Amino acid sequence: MRLKDRTAIVVGAGQSPGEGMGNGRATAITFAREGASVLCVDRNLASAQETVSLIAEKGGKAVAFEADVTKERDIKAMVDEVPKRWGRLDILHNNVGVSLAGGDAELLAITEQAIDNCVAINLKSCILAAKHAIPIMRQQRSGAIVNISSMAAITVYPYVAYKATKAAMIAFTEQLAYQNAEYGIRANVILPGLMDTPMAVDTRAQAFKKTRAEVAAERDAKVPLRRKMGTAWDVANAALFLASDEASFITGVTLPVDGGASVRRG
Ligand SMILES: NC(=O)c1ccc[n+]([C@@H]2O[C@H](COP(=O)([O-])OP(=O)(O)OC[C@H]3O[C@@H](n4cnc5c(N)ncnc54)[C@H](O)[C@@H]3O)[C@@H](O)[C@H]2O)c1
Repeated sequence: MRLKDRTAIVVGAGQSPGEGMGNGRATAITFAREGASVLCVDRNLASAQETVSLIAEKGGKAVAFEADVTKERDIKAMVDEVPKRWGRLDILHNNVGVSLAGGDAELLAITEQAIDNCVAINLKSCILAAKHAIPIMRQQRSGAIVNISSMAAITVYPYVAYKATKAAMIAFTEQLAYQNAEYGIRANVILPGLMDTPMAVDTRAQAFKKTRAEVAAERDAKVPLRRKMGTAWDVANAALFLASDEASFITGVTLPVDGGASVRRG
């Protein structure tokens, strides 16, 4: 029970259609298993509700909440909901992110609309969630924020908007950590590498007209550690550590969860 009596928001706690488990869902389940009350936020309420049902089956405490995090009004409502319900806000976990699904493309093909989409979903949402959570956390003089960026931020990646927004998340998290350290608030960012999630594998299979197994095999081959992608539980476990008191002297850190892929240069 490493998060006993804590309260948490997991933004993007549903998941994309496909096989297996997404990062957001696995994180919500992990936080609840460790004793937190979790607000499972998603613009797809049915998907957030599925996450809540999985948590409830194991005796955990969670509530689904519908919000489109491209809208500041929805973000404020989601942040306010947690202290209203459970008295305080200990953990903010920003998991929402899109690339291909947001229309992302290579430079010469990218549209203005796709850039706006990716900036709003990946970056603006995480900045505005912090804007509304920080005053509550400053008053408590404690809080942990975990942002989900991507290894794409620091390694080669074909599409423009995802890479740029995920890189910006790292800079923003560092600033957030530094400016709020005196209030006892920590902020850290995780860089997932090649993970076996519906968002990454099933979305690509559909976009590139390949089978799931083909996409999975190509991704597995690129991972140094056991030549196997990571899973959503690897991201969830890293987030659990960063959100828990075990990381109480860790802030402003960028943590790759990538099976060693970032070690390769050139
Ligand atoms: N899977 C990988 O290989 C991989 C690698 C690197 C980084 N990541 C990062 O992990 C995160 C996603 O992981 P996941 O597996 O949970 O993805 P997912 O797509 O399965 O889940 C994300 C959830 O966010 C929700 N969402 C999308 N736009 C929203 C909006 N505007 N408002 C509210 N909710 C919205 C979706 O409905 C979905 O349920 C992303 O930030 C992604 O960039 C994944």
